[in-house]
Amino acid sequence: MFYSQSDEWSRTLLLYDSALKEINTRIEIMNNDFKLAHQYNPIEHVTSRIKSTQSIAKKIRKLNLELTVENIVRYVNDVAGIRIICSFTSDIYRLAELLKRQSDIRVLRVKDYIQNPKPNGYMSYHMIVAVPVFLSDRMVETKVEIQIRTIAMDFWASLEHKIYYKFEGKAPDHIRRELKECAELVTFLDRKMLSINEEIKEYAMAQELREYQEMSEEAANSETEVVTVESVKLAKRIPAELPTVEILYEELEGMQDEKQHGDKKTGNSADSYTDKVPFLSEMFPGGKKKKKKEAGAT
Ligand code: GTP
Ligand code: MG
Repeated sequence: MFYSQSDEWSRTLLLYDSALKEINTRIEIMNNDFKLAHQYNPIEHVTSRIKSTQSIAKKIRKLNLELTVENIVRYVNDVAGIRIICSFTSDIYRLAELLKRQSDIRVLRVKDYIQNPKPNGYMSYHMIVAVPVFLSDRMVETKVEIQIRTIAMDFWASLEHKIYYKFEGKAPDHIRRELKECAELVTFLDRKMLSINEEIKEYAMAQELREYQEMSEEAANSETEVVTVESVKLAKRIPAELPTVEILYEELEGMQDEKQHGDKKTGNSADSYTDKVPFLSEMFPGGKKKKKKEAGAT
């Protein structure tokens, strides 16, 4: 039966292979873009594979189905599989979200074994997606299983996999218990690493602010345009989730208008803004100083 379908199977395998290439490229693009925007690499590495014919046949048998190309395509969701290994748990959700947002990717199923670990302790984020593959004469949506997990989760899963096969699924109780304990350690380790990383990021941000403060002090004293240019540069480096950035741009435009038109009553000055947002008052000590100087001059 399978032999008579060998041409069809070859064409189907080409689809799965193409779907893997498609997803791999998108992941690479996202990683590169992220690197450029945030000076940081969320992906440690990516692996992909096409399920072996034996494993496919085993799965079809387990499902009590006839081994046909149609049944494989319909019922085996992981013929094409990609595993993305991230540094931190937060990266997993960020990447999953970015993939889900791609307009031509259809998410067919999500299993979040991080929020809900399996009873044995297994943790990973799984998505089955359908991705369009464009052939010479048509488009075919093709399924890919995407697994996203941290290095620590992956470490655990690969050991568990070995143990599972070693004992053919019937590992002694104490080994299962110890593995479960290791899974808890993995959660602890991932949380700890994430919080250390957050601290490092805050430290780097504080450092940048300090450097910026020094620059803006100098600019306030020299009455040059450096404040504006550096502010925009700094604003671009601030993570997008901070809502202050757009307002910062508006404010900077306001400051420029004010300078050009000599109109001090627009209310759009650095001070009016820094009063509203304390965070920026720390960023713009130069702005405040300047006003004091102007007040003193009258
Ligand atoms: P499969 O039929 O095993 O593919 O599972 P499923 O269709 O119910 O999907 P699920 O998302 O639960 O698992 C998909 C894949 O995740 C598996 O093929 C494994 O690669 C991996 N996986 C799931 N559970 C475990 C586990 O307990 N240990 C390990 N090491 N890997 C697991
Ligand atoms: Mg599988």
